[in-house]
Amino acid sequence: MYVSLYTAASLDMKIADTSHTVEYLDWVKTPEGEDYGYHEFYQNIDGLIMGRKTYDISFELGGGQWPYTGNKPCFVFTRSDTIQHVDENNVSIVNSLDEFIKMGLNDRFWLLGGGELVRAFLNRDLIDRMIIHLFPVVLGDGIPLFPDGTVSKKFMLSEEKKFENGILELRYEREI
Ligand SMILES: NC(=O)c1ccc[n+]([C@@H]2O[C@H](COP(=O)([O-])OP(=O)(O)OC[C@H]3O[C@@H](n4cnc5c(N)ncnc54)[C@H](OP(=O)(O)O)[C@@H]3O)[C@@H](O)[C@H]2O)c1
Repeated sequence: MYVSLYTAASLDMKIADTSHTVEYLDWVKTPEGEDYGYHEFYQNIDGLIMGRKTYDISFELGGGQWPYTGNKPCFVFTRSDTIQHVDENNVSIVNSLDEFIKMGLNDRFWLLGGGELVRAFLNRDLIDRMIIHLFPVVLGDGIPLFPDGTVSKKFMLSEEKKFENGILELRYEREI
């Protein structure tokens, strides 16, 4: 299994505001035709992994529709046994990281987040690569990408790209 965290974040490493909205992503104007490498990245992953809160928000952002194309398998982490919207989109529910590891999957996954699930993966040393689009905004209070309780871990900066609107793409690989 190869896990890539691919996410946007503010300068203070928040992924959403306290209301769980990502309006800050619209504070910066995206040049015509720019997708920040999303298409290429998405082509090269086999499946998605996300926490239940990110799953709920994904539907909201997609206007009630599943926003991810290609019918790629999606694993949604939840400790609860009630979850909305399941099934039609190749979604599987996972109750723990141990359960997921036991599946023995050998795919390339996009870990979408949110922070709680990032913490769980990082604490088990399961993140191979991080691609972070750093937005030139400070959010203040908000949902952290790396919440309290995340372990310390060193990564290696492998690539950086500066976009003309001030967004910085930072790619980090795990140190072996
Ligand atoms: N900027 C971006 O690119 C970006 C990307 C992704 C998400 N976001 C934002 O991030 C926010 C959500 O992040 P979040 O940190 O609050 O929540 P999250 O990680 O998306 O979801 C947390 C939930 O996932 C489940 N969970 C987490 N760890 C688990 C584990 N080890 N085993 C089983 N279940 C586990 C639990 O679900 P239950 O409560 O159901 O048990 C937990 O409440 C949203 O506002 C979203 O918009 C932003």
